[in-house]
Amino acid sequence: IDVKKIRNFSIVAHVDHGKSTLADRLLEITGTIKPGAENAQVLDQLQVERERGITVKAVTASLNYTYNNETYLLNLIDTPGHVDFSNEVVRSITACQGVIMLVDANEGIQAQTVAVYSLAKKNNLLIIPTLNKVDLPRADPAKVKSQLHSLFKIEPDSVMSISAKRGWGVKELLEAVITRIPPPSVDTKGHFRAHVIDTWHDKYRGVLCLIYIHSGKVQVGQAVKWKSDLKPHTVKFLAMLRPSEDPVEEAVAGQVVMVGCGPKAGGKVGDQLLAKEVGDDDEGSSAPPVKHMVYAGIFPADQSQHPQLSDSIKKLALNDSAVTVTPDSSPALGQGWRIGFLGLLHLEVFTQRLLQEYKAEAILTAPSVPYKVKIKGAKAIKQYKGDEVIVTNPLLLPDVKNIEEYYEPFVIGTIITPVEYIGAVTTLCHDRRGTPLPSNAVDDNMTMLQYVLPLSEVVIDFHDTLKSITSGFASFDYQDYGFHPSALVRMDILLNGILVDELSTIVHTSRLEYNARRLTEKLKEMIPRQMVQVAIQAVVGGKVLARETLKAYRKDVTAKLYGGDVTRKKKLLKQQAEGKKKMRSVANIRIPRNTFIDVLKR
Ligand code: GTP
Repeated sequence: IDVKKIRNFSIVAHVDHGKSTLADRLLEITGTIKPGAENAQVLDQLQVERERGITVKAVTASLNYTYNNETYLLNLIDTPGHVDFSNEVVRSITACQGVIMLVDANEGIQAQTVAVYSLAKKNNLLIIPTLNKVDLPRADPAKVKSQLHSLFKIEPDSVMSISAKRGWGVKELLEAVITRIPPPSVDTKGHFRAHVIDTWHDKYRGVLCLIYIHSGKVQVGQAVKWKSDLKPHTVKFLAMLRPSEDPVEEAVAGQVVMVGCGPKAGGKVGDQLLAKEVGDDDEGSSAPPVKHMVYAGIFPADQSQHPQLSDSIKKLALNDSAVTVTPDSSPALGQGWRIGFLGLLHLEVFTQRLLQEYKAEAILTAPSVPYKVKIKGAKAIKQYKGDEVIVTNPLLLPDVKNIEEYYEPFVIGTIITPVEYIGAVTTLCHDRRGTPLPSNAVDDNMTMLQYVLPLSEVVIDFHDTLKSITSGFASFDYQDYGFHPSALVRMDILLNGILVDELSTIVHTSRLEYNARRLTEKLKEMIPRQMVQVAIQAVVGGKVLARETLKAYRKDVTAKLYGGDVTRKKKLLKQQAEGKKKMRSVANIRIPRNTFIDVLKR
C-alpha cells in the first residue's frame, strides 16, 4: 500500500457527544460491518463499557474507502471520552495526523472539548471541527459555530455538520478526512521501527501489541527486538484490525497493525519494536509517561487468594498500561499491592474489570493523591537517595525533622457553566482551596471558568458536587499543573495511646480540625465496644486535635446458655474465635477489617 493513501485519525469529543455512534456509522459506510441495530457500538467491546455506556479502552479499526476511484486505508482509532482516560487519548494521538472533533450541536462546547482541542493543537494535528446531532429539534448549529469561533478562532465555513445517528453528512465527513488530513510522514525505506500504542493478553498467543510503524516494513517471520531489552524475537502474528483480526503477511510504514511475537515475548506500551539490524543508539518517538493522580491499596479478600489475584492484576495491568503496581502489606489486610491510577473512575473501572474479566475478589482501601517532600540534611538525603521523595502512602512519609518543604499536586480545572451558576461554582472552587484564573465568555449564556485546584480536593467528589449544584449543566475537565509548595502535615490516629499506622493521613492545615473530628467520630461508630474503654485520638506531632471515648462492654456469647450444653457452647466459642481472625488487634483492641477500608472514604 502507498503511504499517500493512508489516513490515521481519531475521533475526540466531550462525553456523550457521539464518538461511538459515529465510529459505528464509519464502519458501516465502509462496508466493515453490516448496518443494523445489533451492531450498536461494536467498538465498545468490554463488558464494563457496555454496562457503563462509556468507552474505556481505545480500539482501532482499519477501513477501506474508495474516493475518486482511489482506495484509501483509513485507520480509525476510537478514544475514550472521560477525563480519567485521557492517557489513552494521548497514546492514540501519537499515531494520528488528524482528529474529528465532535461537538454536540445542542449542548455546545463543553469543558472536555476545550481539553481535547488543546491536546490536538499541542500535537500539531489537523482538526476537523464537526457538529453532531444536527437532527435534534433543539440543535443550534449557528450558535455552536460562533462558540467555536470565539474560543478557538475556527472559521464557521470549515465546520462540518452531521447526524451520526441518522448517517447524515457522514460520507462528506469521510471525504474531509481524506482531503484535509495529511498522510503519515514516515520513512518507507529505512529499517523497521514501530512504537507500541496498546497491548492486551491472549490466552494462547501471549501478549498482542497494536503498533504504529514509523519506518520500513514488517513481515511474518521477521527477526525483531524490543528497544527496552534488545532481546531477539520473531514476528509470529500480524493482522489489521477491522476491528476483528484480518491476518496479513506484511505491513508498511504509516500503518497501524497488531503484532504478536509468541507467548514469552512480552511487549509494553511506549516501548519500540525494531528490526534486528537497527542500532541501539536509535532515538524514535514514544508516548509521554503516564502521571498517576490517585493511589489505593488492593488486597485479596482472603490471603489464600493472593497468588490468583496477583496473576489477574498482572494480566490486567498489561492491558491497562496506565496503572502502576507495587507490592504492599499491612498488619490488618495482609499482603497486597499499592496501585496508581489516573483518577477515581479509572480505579473503579480497574477493579470492576478485575472482577468481571478475571473473577478476582479484591478489597480496596481509601484512595489518596501522591505528595512530594524536599529532604534536608546530608545524612537524610543519602538515606532517601536524593533530596526529593514522592510519597504515595502516608505511612512512608519521611521523618518530619528531615523535611524542608511539603508539596502537593495541583491541576488547572476548566469549568464551562451557564452564567446563572457562576456564583455557586465560584463558592465551590473557593471551598476547595482554588485560585481563580482569568475567565472567558463562551457565548451570552455560557462562561468558561478556570481555577488552579489541589488535586486532593478534586479527585474524590468534585465532579459530582459540581453537577449537583448546577443541575447537571456545568462540565469539568482538568489538566496536570504539577507539584507546588503547600502547608501539609501528617495526622495520626491513636487507640489508647497506640499508633494505628494504616489510619495515618496527609492533611492540609486548613482542613486539620475538620478531618480530626470527622475521623474520630467515624471510628467511634465503626469499632465495636471492647472489654476495656477505648480512647480514640487524632494527633499531629504529639498534639491531640480530637478525642472520642468508646465505653467498655463485655460481650459474652455464652452468657445466655445456662444448663450444660457443652457442644453448643464450644461451637459458639469457635465462631467467636473465627470472628476474631477477621479483626486486627492494636493494643488488645480489636478492629474489624472493613474499618480500614471504609473509614477514610468520604
Ligand atoms: P463516550 O464513549 O461515553 O464518551 O460517549 P460517546 O461520545 O461515544 O457517545 P455515544 O456515541 O455513546 O452517544 C451518546 C448518546 O448520543 C447516545 O444515546 C447516542 O444514541 C446519541 N447520539 C449520538 N449521535 C447522535 C445524533 O447524531 N443524533 C441524536 N439524536 N443522537 C445521537
